[in-house]
Amino acid sequence: MKKNKILAANWKLNKTPQQTREFFKNFFEIDQKFTTAVAKGLQFVFFPSAFCLDQTQKSLSGITHVGFGPQNVYSQESGAFTGENSLTVALEMGATYVLVGHSERRQLFAESESLLAEKIKLSNKHKMKTIFCIGETLQERESNQTSTVLKKQLQSALQNLVTDKTQNFSPENLIIAYEPVWAIGTGKVATKDQVAEAHAFIHSVLQELGCAQSPILYGGSVKADNAKELSLISHVDGFLVGGASLDAKTFLDIAEAMI
Ligand code: PGA
Repeated sequence: MKKNKILAANWKLNKTPQQTREFFKNFFEIDQKFTTAVAKGLQFVFFPSAFCLDQTQKSLSGITHVGFGPQNVYSQESGAFTGENSLTVALEMGATYVLVGHSERRQLFAESESLLAEKIKLSNKHKMKTIFCIGETLQERESNQTSTVLKKQLQSALQNLVTDKTQNFSPENLIIAYEPVWAIGTGKVATKDQVAEAHAFIHSVLQELGCAQSPILYGGSVKADNAKELSLISHVDGFLVGGASLDAKTFLDIAEAMI
C-alpha cells in the first residue's frame, strides 16, 4: 500500500442495533484481518443509520483507526426541523465523520447543491471529517458532461468556503468520494480508465480550490475482486462501499485486497 488509505462503509437504511453489534463482533474476530489492515495503515470509517450510531459508538469504544458518523445531517444545528438529524448530537455521540451529498440524498430526497454547501460549511465549523460524494448520472456520462458535472458539484460546495476567510476552512478534513451514479448498487463498476480519468480530473479541480491534499475515494459496486486493481490507480485513496460492507467478512476481504 503506497500511502494510508481509507475504507468507508455506507450501510444506508440497513441493520438494527443488534445486527450492528453482531457485525462488529465478527469484524474484530475474523482471522486477525482487522489488526493486519490497521497495522498496514488502513483507516476504517462506518456510516450506520442514525438509530445505530449509539450501538456503533459502544462497539468501537477503545478501538483506534476506526471512525464513524451519520449518513446525513441537517444544515442547522438545532431548531424547528422535525425529523432531521443534528450534527452536534452526532458529535456528542462520538462521531468524527459525516457523509454529505450521497447521490441517494440528492436524487431521492431532492437535496440541492446550495443545501449541500451549507452542510459542508457546518461540518467544517465543527472540524468534522466530511466525505463529500460527487458523481455523474449515466445520461450525463453518455452526453460527455462528466467533467462539467464533477467540477460544478465541487465548486458549488466548496468555492465560497475556500474563499471566505472567516470560515477557517480546513481542507485536511475534506474527503471526496467519486461515485458514478450508474455504478451504485448496480454491479456495474467503472472501468480502470474511467476511474483514473475522473480521479485525475477531480484532483486537478481540488488543486485549483486549494484542497490538493484531500483524499479521493472511489465508490460504486466495489468488491474484493475489483478492489485491488482499483486501489492501484493514481489518486484513488480508498473506497466508499455500500452493499459489500454489510457483511464483516466481505468487507474485510476488500480491506485485504487494498493492503
Ligand atoms: P455500492 O454502494 O457499493 O452498493 O454500489 C456505494 C454507495 O452507495 O456508497
